[in-house]
Amino acid sequence: MINIPKGTKDVLPSQSYKWQYIEDTARDVARVFNLKEIRTPVFEHTELFKRGVGEGTDVVGKEMYTFEDKGGRSVTLKPEGTAGAVRLFVENGLSSTPMPVKTYYITPAFRYERPQAGRLREFHQFGIEVFGSESAETDAEVIFAASSFLGKLGLSGTRLEINSIGCRSCRADYNRALREYFEPRLGDMCETCRTRFSSNPLRMLDCKEEKCREISAGAPSILDYLCPDCRGHFERVKALLEESGLAFTVNPCIVRGLDYYTRTVFEFVSDAIGAQGTVCGGGRYDGLVEQLGGAHTPAVGFAAGIERLMLLMDNIGAKYPEEPKVTVYVAGMDEPTRAAAFSAANRLRADGISAEADLMSRSLKAQFKYADKLGAEYVAVIGSDELSENEITVKNMESGKSERIKINDLYAYLKKEI
Ligand code: HAM
Repeated sequence: MINIPKGTKDVLPSQSYKWQYIEDTARDVARVFNLKEIRTPVFEHTELFKRGVGEGTDVVGKEMYTFEDKGGRSVTLKPEGTAGAVRLFVENGLSSTPMPVKTYYITPAFRYERPQAGRLREFHQFGIEVFGSESAETDAEVIFAASSFLGKLGLSGTRLEINSIGCRSCRADYNRALREYFEPRLGDMCETCRTRFSSNPLRMLDCKEEKCREISAGAPSILDYLCPDCRGHFERVKALLEESGLAFTVNPCIVRGLDYYTRTVFEFVSDAIGAQGTVCGGGRYDGLVEQLGGAHTPAVGFAAGIERLMLLMDNIGAKYPEEPKVTVYVAGMDEPTRAAAFSAANRLRADGISAEADLMSRSLKAQFKYADKLGAEYVAVIGSDELSENEITVKNMESGKSERIKINDLYAYLKKEI
């Protein structure tokens, strides 16, 4: 037997209602925030992610599924949704439509990571990207959308942590200060931090190694290096969150693992899912549209990992709605009554009622047993007696109440009952 690739997961028929619930919830949040769905290809030119996400990031440097197609082009399975969304925005001239352009997506994403609980090689994201507005209100709206999504899933206990990593000009001063701080301590830090020291010292704050975290704890804070504009923007974002009663903590160590961020960055974090505690991450990326060939367009967004959300929901016992069951099982006994049952089931389906009929040539007793396993609310039986009168006996499986009615009245009868 050929097994599923490492780090990927099947969705089984008994579990798919959970996925549908999370996706429906995401779409409902998108609807109330007036976000429009976008869909981008699963693969893009490798260059898009190199330029968009950043060559120095783990995602691009170590984790991409990159291959040459038969035409000799280097393509990559999308490791995240933002770069593709920006390409879509630029390539389709959305900058000439009224701003802001508010979008969302539900997409698979691929990263060659070491699989563990909450970390997969193929995973799924619900993400939103809002283009064209620099205002702090936009950051706050995006954070509210994420919070509302988590709240609807029963995950309102998830912690919101925010930070501002400033713009290019404040970051230059800050990087200088970081290098000054880290340089004499580099000998005690991990290999990765030593590489980041020259490429992107900000990312040293993100290191999970205990010894590096201890050193980073004493590092200068980005918040002391924000320029007046970035500081004002961050103060306004915080004020808007406070005004609406959304609790958060400022964590100057949140820098995010992708290169495109500017100003606001945020994460929703939980302690209930082990090391991979971030269920949702995002922030502002004011330079990316321009970097990918568009006109200067500020933008902000987030993505939440669906598998990670599911893990969290399981771990804290958050409830899914019950799996929908089939409404009615229509049973027959011999060839003519089975044919009548088959056609009655089809008519019900055409009218929008979920119905099953026998596909396994089971005896009547076995059909009842199977209907019970399915959790059918009703079993409707057509015996020879009933068929000669165009009738059907409908049994409510919960109450045990049974009634004989005209087959033609079955839809109206069930409609009244359910
Ligand atoms: P990210 O933090 O790389 O950001 O990923 C967002 C979320 O995707 C994570 O918080 C996590 O829930 C989920 N995730 C990431 N990697 C994995 C994995 N290997 N297995 C399972 N889940 C995972 C982004 O992707 C940005 N594009 C978010 C964004 C949108 N920023 C602005 N707009």
